Formats: sequence, C-alpha cells, structure tokens
Amino acid sequence: MKTIRDLDIAGKRVLVRVDFNVPMDRQGGITDDTRIRMALPTIEYALEQGARVILCSHLGRPKGQRVDEYSLAPVAAHLGRLVGRDVAFAPNCVGPEAEAVVRAMADGELALLENLRYHPGEQENDPDFARQLAALAEVYVNDAFAVSHRAHASVVGVPRLCASKGAGFLLKKELDYFHRSMDEPIRPLVAIVGGAKVSSKLGALTNMLAKVDRMLIGGAMANTFLKSQGYDVGASRVEDELLDEAGKLLARAREKGVKVYLPVDVIAADGFAPDAVTKQVTIQDIPSGWMALDIGPASVICFGEALADAKTIVWNGPMGAFEMDAFARGTMALAHTVGSSHALSITGGGDSNAAVNKFGEAENISYMSTGGGAFLMLMEGKELPGVAALEEGQEN
Ligand code: 3PG
Repeated sequence: MKTIRDLDIAGKRVLVRVDFNVPMDRQGGITDDTRIRMALPTIEYALEQGARVILCSHLGRPKGQRVDEYSLAPVAAHLGRLVGRDVAFAPNCVGPEAEAVVRAMADGELALLENLRYHPGEQENDPDFARQLAALAEVYVNDAFAVSHRAHASVVGVPRLCASKGAGFLLKKELDYFHRSMDEPIRPLVAIVGGAKVSSKLGALTNMLAKVDRMLIGGAMANTFLKSQGYDVGASRVEDELLDEAGKLLARAREKGVKVYLPVDVIAADGFAPDAVTKQVTIQDIPSGWMALDIGPASVICFGEALADAKTIVWNGPMGAFEMDAFARGTMALAHTVGSSHALSITGGGDSNAAVNKFGEAENISYMSTGGGAFLMLMEGKELPGVAALEEGQEN
C-alpha cells in the first residue's frame, strides 16, 4: 500500500479523509481532541510539501440531514489553533460552496469541509456524491483509520475514482501496530476482551483464538461464558441465545490449548446504580436477583498472573461498569497491570481507551488505537474496506 510519502503532492489539491468524529459538549467544545492530534503529522507533512490540503470528515450520525450540533465548524477553529494557521471552512462538503473554498486555496493552505454525513450519499456510497467529492482534488489520502471499516463514499467510493492515492501516517501506524501485535507477535500474546456483549465480539473472539496464547474475558460478556459453564449468574446481563456458542468457543479453546481465563469472583450489586448495595462474591455465590458488575480481587490476581510474562497484549473492552466508582476497581487494576507491563501493549475501542485515560496509564500503553469498530474488524481478521479501496488498481 502506498503512503502519502510515495505520492507527488506538491502544488496539488489533496483530499484527506480524516476521522474528526470527536466528543463534544453541548456548547460545541471538544472534550477529547485525540483524533485531531493524531491526524496532525499527515496534515503538517502535506502542508510542508506545498499541497493544498482539503480535509473531510464525518461527525456523529446526523442521518443525511444538516443538524447544527454536528457541524464541524468548531473543529475547524480548534484545528487552526493546533496548527497555528488559518483553516478555511467550507459550509458544505460538495457543491458550489465547497468548490469556491477549494478554488481560493493557494499551495500550502488548509481547508476543512463540513460534515460529510449531512448528505445521505456519504453513508449510501452514492456514486454521484463520491464523484462530486473526488472532483475537488487530484490526490486522495485516507488517514481515517477509525472509519475505514465503513464502506462509505469518502472511504471507498472516492479512492476508487482516484489514480493517485495512499495512506496517511495515522492509518499506516494503526495497521503496522496491529500487524505487529496480531500477525507477528512476540509471544506470549495475551488478549483481554471485555465489554457488554458477546454478540458484538463473537467474530473477534473466534479469530483471536487462532492467534493468542491466552485470553482473558471480563465485563458483562463474561456472564454469558460463565452461565454456559453452568454457573448461576443471578440477574446479571446474559445473552441466552449465545450460551451454546459461548460453550463451543471455550471447548475450541481447550482443543487448541489456548487458556481462557474467566472471572473467579465478582462485585455483585442489587441494581445497576452507583449507590447499589454491593458484595464481593465468588462466581458460585452470586445472590439470586443480583448482578455481576465488575471482576473481583481474586480475578484481578489471576488475570495479573496470566499477563505477568506476556510479551504482547491486545486489550479491547472494560472489565466492568467502570464509569461508576463502585465497579471501577477491576478495570483500574487491569489498566495498571497492562501499564506497568514491558509487553507491547495495544488498546482499542472507546471504552478501553477511556479507562486507560481515566486511570492515568495512557503514557504507559505502547499504542492506543483511535478505532472502535475498525479495531474490532481487524480483530475479526477481516480487511478494512477503506484499506482495500486504497489498494485497488495499485501495483504494489
Ligand atoms: C467511530 O467513532 O468509531 C468512527 O468515527 C465511526 O463512526 P460510526 O460508528 O458512526 O460510523
């Protein structure tokens, strides 16, 4: 796959697909600008090369409508402060307004187009919409790893129309880290998988079984696995329709010699609330009507032992409802364990990254992916449509 370094961009109009889908407060203030900062190396490189850099992104899910709260205008202002230069803002991503902004650009200047998802054609990968977008530029760069699992117009439609195209530095870095951790890992490779639902991670769990040496399963999804092994998990969240599948997955792991660690104790609560009454119990003793909302201290020790000699760790999903202090200890302990490990450690998904940030371990993680769904798709062993579209029609 070509990268931006392989492309001739000096004096060219370069459309860079970024993922500026950042969290905002009600006043339009950006509450976490990580995704914008992570795109800066590509933006700055392109500007230094004398390209006319046209950025495009989605924000939220406005469903093809112009919804003010999803405007990228505050992002343009924020980006301008980060790069210390003007960012021209086009109030529409295609049509006369976008064309006028692009026409007025000189070499080495920067513009941001309004939210792509104000047009239904973006998510529908409408060919006309893709053509209009592609017509704004001569070169296409994808630096939006986090949306590269979506077959949307700006992700797959536009690159298919462009002869000159490549990956930005962030997309390249994300793929390289993932490749290092999953395809050529230094072993033992240990996966930590948590979060609410088995259903959303079944593909990832299945694929990971073929790659990892050990797998730790926590979060609400662990309940389904525990129940599949005959434990009574009380009123804990369980996907009953997946009990059979969960049991088979554990059996397959045994056949392959992959050790799967499930919680041995939990923090049980009489309700899903910050002030619920809680009890630390073994998994045999979850009171009827109570729910498991975090892994317990014995599980933390077992999981820590499984991680002790790891050389590569891939983490997706929290161990409990860590947004409530009463159920944060398991995820916090795991964040500290991963943070203090000498392994190559990679986290992906909004919740795992939020946990790593919350517990002050961001500096100690080798790489925190900007992707949620895209990271999961790689964990499933699938190719990202946005990456495939970059490679189409290229010789190498
Ligand atoms: C994300 O936040 O995971 C990406 O920006 C993709 O957003 P989407 O799930 O709305 O497509």
